[in-house]
Amino acid sequence: MHPENPQAIYRKDYHQPDFFIESIDLHFSLDEDVTLVHSQMVIRPRTTNQTVPLVLQGESLVLKNLKLNGQVLNTHDYQVDKIHLTIPTVPTQSFTLETIVEIKPQENTALTGLYKSSGNYCTQCEAEGFRRITYFLDRPDVMARYTTTIVADKNRYPVLLSNGNRVEYGELTDGRHWVKWADPFPKPSYLFALVAGNLHCHGGKFVTRSGREVRLEIWVEPQNHDQCEHALQSLAKAMRWDEERFGLEYDLDIYMIVAVSDFNMGAMENKGLNVFNAKFVLCRPDTATDDDYENIEAVIAHEYFHNWTGNRVTCRDWFQLTLKEGLTVFRDQSFTEEMTSAAVKRIQDVRILRTSQFAEDQSPMAHPIRPESYIEMNNFYTVTVYNKGAEVIRLYQTLLGKDGFRRGMDLYFQRHDGQAVTCDDFRAAMADANKMDLSQFERWYDQAGTPVVDVLGTYNALEKTYSLTLRQQIPANLQAWHIPIAVGLLGKNGQDLPLQLATETNSNRTCIIELREVEQTVTFVNIPEAPIPSLLRHFSAPIKLNFSRQREELAFLMAHDSDPFNRWEAGQQLAQQVIFDLLADWQADKPLQLDPLFSNAVLKILQDTQLEGSIKALMLTLPTEGFLGQQQAEVAVEGLFTVRQFVLQQLAQDHYTQWLTIYKANHHTPYSNEASAIACRRLKNVALHYLCRLDTAETTALAEQQFTQSDNMTDQQSALSCLVNTTGTAKTIALTRFYTQWKENPLVLDKWFSVQAMSYLPDTFENVQALLQHSDFNLKNPNRARSLLAVFSQNQAQFHRADGLAYQLQADIVLQLNTLNPQIASRFVSVFNHWRRFDPARQALMQTQLTRIIQHPDLSKDVYEVVSKSLNAQN
Ligand code: TRP
Ligand code: ZN
Repeated sequence: MHPENPQAIYRKDYHQPDFFIESIDLHFSLDEDVTLVHSQMVIRPRTTNQTVPLVLQGESLVLKNLKLNGQVLNTHDYQVDKIHLTIPTVPTQSFTLETIVEIKPQENTALTGLYKSSGNYCTQCEAEGFRRITYFLDRPDVMARYTTTIVADKNRYPVLLSNGNRVEYGELTDGRHWVKWADPFPKPSYLFALVAGNLHCHGGKFVTRSGREVRLEIWVEPQNHDQCEHALQSLAKAMRWDEERFGLEYDLDIYMIVAVSDFNMGAMENKGLNVFNAKFVLCRPDTATDDDYENIEAVIAHEYFHNWTGNRVTCRDWFQLTLKEGLTVFRDQSFTEEMTSAAVKRIQDVRILRTSQFAEDQSPMAHPIRPESYIEMNNFYTVTVYNKGAEVIRLYQTLLGKDGFRRGMDLYFQRHDGQAVTCDDFRAAMADANKMDLSQFERWYDQAGTPVVDVLGTYNALEKTYSLTLRQQIPANLQAWHIPIAVGLLGKNGQDLPLQLATETNSNRTCIIELREVEQTVTFVNIPEAPIPSLLRHFSAPIKLNFSRQREELAFLMAHDSDPFNRWEAGQQLAQQVIFDLLADWQADKPLQLDPLFSNAVLKILQDTQLEGSIKALMLTLPTEGFLGQQQAEVAVEGLFTVRQFVLQQLAQDHYTQWLTIYKANHHTPYSNEASAIACRRLKNVALHYLCRLDTAETTALAEQQFTQSDNMTDQQSALSCLVNTTGTAKTIALTRFYTQWKENPLVLDKWFSVQAMSYLPDTFENVQALLQHSDFNLKNPNRARSLLAVFSQNQAQFHRADGLAYQLQADIVLQLNTLNPQIASRFVSVFNHWRRFDPARQALMQTQLTRIIQHPDLSKDVYEVVSKSLNAQN
């Protein structure tokens, strides 16, 4: 435990900074044992009528020199502690401050600040990493102009990059060289970046719609030179899309992306110099899956979109993180919807939201998209801030329409370009541009939790009206949300009925009900027959909607709903009902029998020739154990596993010939990156997974054939993940072969670890233990650590094994990571957040590990915050 526990910071305590930093001139001398950072800042007091101490942040820095207006300061003129440099008396007018500090990037395993990855230097400053590079007012509302000079050995570090434009360069006599960069745009410190190393450039260009030529550069380790083209194309697509959809153009003459192997998150939007996890840059058909290709395009777009939503207009303070992240995720989702398929993308995004974000809402770490307090900001880069934040932005668009949303965005940029602002400023721009009252909308920012809406429908045959009564369940101390609910009504033939509200004259097939009250009733007129309602179409709000339905009705919607999202949703609800009824049978020791209605509904999907392949593949995928567990008061670990396995096995058997037909029909399409070819691979691989559940010589042979003959990673990985669940020798042969083929490619080797961690066979935990000892396992590399351990912790039945051994292992790992990399440690310890949702025996086992962790003497703030909240909360 901590001698003094770390303190929380509150949103309500926000104060403007006492000083602004107008400019900073940085000078880095990169050396193998110490790196020297020389900084010269022009600092302006906010007010000139009082003197307040200047308090700069700085961590793990060794101060070597300090000058104010050119004068060296005596040690009694300032104080240095572990996290600050304080100068009690400074001039009341602008002054210059010069510091020289020493840092050791080569020892930095936390991967924040300046660190080394594969022998190259790189930085990660968001949220508060800049203070590990030099003393600074490290907060986003302090925006400065940066110039950066980098000096390093020319042989080892031929490439020296920073933000903005390269303005000067030269050579020194001792084998070192230097480059100076200048960024014309004032920016917060979290957007600073520096890269130095031996890197290959994959270049291109983009001509903006106003005719300016922008140089595009993707920088990678030389051996990866042939895996950059998709990233480059994605960047150009994103740039074009932002011009067309939002009228936003790029502002510098050069845009650089650097791929690094050691990275805590996905990527970082540093001004003009993005730093990326290599996973979201590198790809080639034989090394990357279709999902990898799609993720790369989405992350490249996300970081690019930040140039306006994040960089040009940034956050006033870190409580406002969703201002840039929710908005930018919404923008990248919209981009992908337009580049691929809107329905498929929506289903994928809702799956993430429901499995991760709804779960976070149920946990002790639950928080509003704009949190009220934090101990460690890095713990708030969450699915709530990002993905629920994106849903909230989507609500504006649903309420205001696409054009209204665009008007709001235009006003937002008009008002706030170059500023550090709040979520309230964004909401005001949306409201003012559309002359709409969005005051109730603030509840989406200040209330945590998933809203629940209960719906009842009544048909009046005499009046030919259909009424929906919607009621929000409002927890104590909270207020009603403003929720748009998209509704359609299906007639007996499966067609949408024209909708006409009692209060309107025009009619439509989908109508948006604006729920603002705790309870509201809407009535549709001229409804000729009792309809089947399709509710929350396209998932029009991030809520749980309760409406009780018979299985026949769900099967009907699954076959007919014109909204593809709700067609999928009906199938998922049907599967869920079937699984929970089987679970009750299993718990009562009754024999299991699959409802033929469900099996037939699946068969109809299998045989549907109209349905787009990717949607079909999604519709043939059952809800995960994790998602199902979330719907229970107490997660039935063994029961859910057994019953879900039974359903999959049964569907495989019932429709054996159809699975085989689908498999064969989609197997021999030659590789291409087109949507239709991707759909074929998705469909065929779903079929292969069902077939392989039968674990026969024939099905295994299919997987083996695909494994050895495929020319692309989608098919190879899919086949391998089928084979790891088979019980013969094929499994070991394939694993060895895959390892030998790919051991030199870390991103592919990550897949080798993951596939094994995902196996549903009972020896998975023992395999994970063994893999931890593998010479290619490395806890310091976040991708590798995640590929084995984060993936395993999502394998519900195997991770939550009754003996608690996996919990103990996870806690061991968390304690090791606590010293190496607190950000990753904190992510890993979060699996225990859900401990109170399990049975008493498992609760006790997880609580033991949490207690063991909190008693550790040198706990990072990151881990401390999560574990203390986990142990103290009641839910
Ligand atoms: N701003 C980054 C993004 O969303 C997030 C990010 C990247 C990050 N690396 C980080 C946040 C490290 C905290 C710490 O694109
Ligand atoms: Zn982002």
